[in-house]
Amino acid sequence: MEPHHLTVLLLLLMFMISTQISINNAALDAAYYDQTCPQAEKIVAETVFNASSHDPKVPARILRMFFHDCFIRGCDASILLDSTPSNKAEKDGPPNVSVRAFYVIDDAKAKIEQICPHIVSCADILAIAARDVVTMSGGPNWPVHKGRKDGRISKANETAQLPSPQFNTTQLIQSFAVRGLTIKDLVALSGGHTLGFSHCSSFQARLHNFSSTTNVDPTINTDFANILKRVCPQHNHNANAGQFLDSTASQFDNNYYKQVLMGKGVFGSDQALASDGRTRWIVESFARDEDLFFREFAASMVKLGNIVSGWDNNGEVRLRCSSVN
Ligand code: HEM
Ligand SMILES: *[C@@H]1O[C@H](CO)[C@@H](O)[C@H](O)[C@H]1NC(C)=O
Ligand SMILES: *[C@@H]1O[C@H](CO)[C@@H](O)[C@H](O)[C@H]1NC(C)=O
Ligand SMILES: *[C@@H]1O[C@H](CO)[C@@H](O)[C@H](O)[C@H]1NC(C)=O
Ligand SMILES: *[C@@H]1O[C@H](CO)[C@@H](O)[C@H](O)[C@H]1NC(C)=O
Ligand SMILES: *[C@@H]1O[C@H](CO)[C@@H](O)[C@H](O)[C@H]1NC(C)=O
Repeated sequence: MEPHHLTVLLLLLMFMISTQISINNAALDAAYYDQTCPQAEKIVAETVFNASSHDPKVPARILRMFFHDCFIRGCDASILLDSTPSNKAEKDGPPNVSVRAFYVIDDAKAKIEQICPHIVSCADILAIAARDVVTMSGGPNWPVHKGRKDGRISKANETAQLPSPQFNTTQLIQSFAVRGLTIKDLVALSGGHTLGFSHCSSFQARLHNFSSTTNVDPTINTDFANILKRVCPQHNHNANAGQFLDSTASQFDNNYYKQVLMGKGVFGSDQALASDGRTRWIVESFARDEDLFFREFAASMVKLGNIVSGWDNNGEVRLRCSSVN
């Protein structure tokens, strides 16, 4: 058998195993609102589509928001809660510069409340919206499993649990593994960086005074390093400056993997995937075969969406996404 076919077979096997596990772990169901609120998904899709046509930054922001929500206390919409006088919420924690599309989810929730009050959780709305932004950007489609509850706790300091853009492969694998996600999930979900933008602060350390022996991270392609240094000079006074994460930043495609193989990953954590034997072969297979990437991304998004912990005993369906009932 050709090595390429072997790769496909292996990934298929991993996919089958992972689907099995996720179905067993969480009692989520694609048909969850079919009787109680059949219009929910259509309302979310229309709201997200309308917002994205007014502001093209919305799709990337919603995709990232879902990732952050699921990595902290599971997918429980903890990221949507506002701070209160006695509690600084996740929303206002350190990497808050680009997670700004909360109003879209709040909007969809308000419209759904008018039709089926107190039925559809904010965590489910965010999961549906994350699928919608991928599909509408040219990526895959998949049935979203639903039935999550909204959590009641959100703490700014817990954003420290998110993986850092300076993580190496071992640290990335570990960060995903503690949430039940495999190396394949790590590589597939990192493909979310096919959409969107980063501020200089997230990769500045790769460009100037990188180590005692070299100013620039040697894994960056030389031409690309020069571009990044021009955008983000050593004494950067423009807090809005930054770089698109892939050269086709509004199109959901496999270009991200091709760029990483050329040394054009924006974050150290992107580039690390090409430098380590455990992940490089998967990066190569996704760069070669976009359909394979799409199938595996969809499967890994379902697993990401099945991470539950926060709401097990104490969850609710919020009336407004920005505050507990
Ligand atoms: C593997 C570990 C990951 C790390 C270290 C990481 C880190 C980052 C950082 C530092 C930014 C830029 C923030 C800024 O400066 O504005 C970013 C943006 C983004 N991330 Fe990730 N990320 C990871 C995984 C993911 C995953 C799993 C997804 C979704 C499936 C995702 C989706 C995005 C998107 C769409 C953006 C662009 C946001 C925008 O344009 O506003 N990331 N990520
Ligand atoms: C569409 O989006 C714009 C801007 O976000 C908003 O003002 C308008 O009310 C929305 N229309 C509908 C029908 O949702
Ligand atoms: C972002 O987080 C910082 C703390 O890290 C906080 O001071 C700031 O108010 C937050 N910004 C927004 C827009 O929430
Ligand atoms: C986070 O903040 C809470 C108070 O909001 C505190 O109880 C907790 O110990 C802090 N955790 C860490 C890891 O700093
Ligand atoms: C990854 O980073 C950790 C923490 O900095 C370090 O202990 C480890 O040696 C690094 N692993 C590799 C393979 O570079
Ligand atoms: C580079 O970093 C070293 C320590 O890591 C520091 O001593 C030195 O001042 C830095 N140089 C510049 C130009 O920032």
